[in-house]
Amino acid sequence: MEDRTPRIEDIHRLLLSPGELAALAEPERSLYLSLPPTLPAEEIERVNRGTRMAGGDYVYRGLEFAVPPGVLVPGGTSEVIFDALHDGLVEARGASVIVMGCGAGVEPVLARQRGAREIRAMDIHEASVASSLASFERHTGPRDPERHHFLVSDLFSALPRGERADVIVFNPPANPLRSDDPDLTRVNFSGSAIMARFFDEIASRALLAPGGRVITVLSNASDLRGIVAHALRRGFRPEVLQRKTWTAPYDKILTHLLSLTLDER
Ligand SMILES: C[S@@+](CC[C@H](N)C(=O)[O-])C[C@H]1O[C@@H](n2cnc3c(N)ncnc32)[C@H](O)[C@@H]1O
Repeated sequence: MEDRTPRIEDIHRLLLSPGELAALAEPERSLYLSLPPTLPAEEIERVNRGTRMAGGDYVYRGLEFAVPPGVLVPGGTSEVIFDALHDGLVEARGASVIVMGCGAGVEPVLARQRGAREIRAMDIHEASVASSLASFERHTGPRDPERHHFLVSDLFSALPRGERADVIVFNPPANPLRSDDPDLTRVNFSGSAIMARFFDEIASRALLAPGGRVITVLSNASDLRGIVAHALRRGFRPEVLQRKTWTAPYDKILTHLLSLTLDER
């Protein structure tokens, strides 16, 4: 019989070596050491059972989103980034904003409402991009083709060369379990590899404008330490904007809203 025990991918590959840790300056070393280790596979599997992929209506602060099947119906983790945009913890006013993995399309609506200068909403999933655009126009009016772009893209591959952003937001599918379901893999279980690629592309293509930052949400249901280790190696400076805990059955989850900047060279 096939073994269905959930297994975690090799997450230790990315962690900092003792030498790398010793070479880190403060406050990066303290931040790295403050990050919680990854939860056991059974716990990650359990907390992901509530993932809603069958579509349906979703409401965020009075804004209604008709979510088609195959597109993630946003959950509590999604709302950590939504709230940060809505409340101005992440400032979108006047900014060029990239929403990576836009899903149901809440972040582009909030970015426009908060006065973003330019918005690029991107997702590898065509139905997510189409649904994001429909909700964007429903809530904020027709898109301005010069300023509002909705792109089907594997990470930044469809972004024209030379484009830069002040803010890049990503609620990533970074849980390190394997799934046989391609939709669940896409929205939850792409592991640390997608974040390694995400930071590699931002650094190597210089996608952040001067003073720009990456905003991402990660918890101990992912390899939080390993992912931050990879970002540190690529020259990012991480900062924890918010730590969030949850009530049962999610009380073992420690969610971190991170801001990462790149030293200007
Ligand atoms: C956790 S969901 C977040 C969706 C939405 N932003 C939210 O918070 O509800 C991750 C999103 O990333 C998208 N995604 C997965 N792999 C991707 C890739 N390689 N490039 C772009 N988007 C990707 C998925 O289709 C999904 O919509």
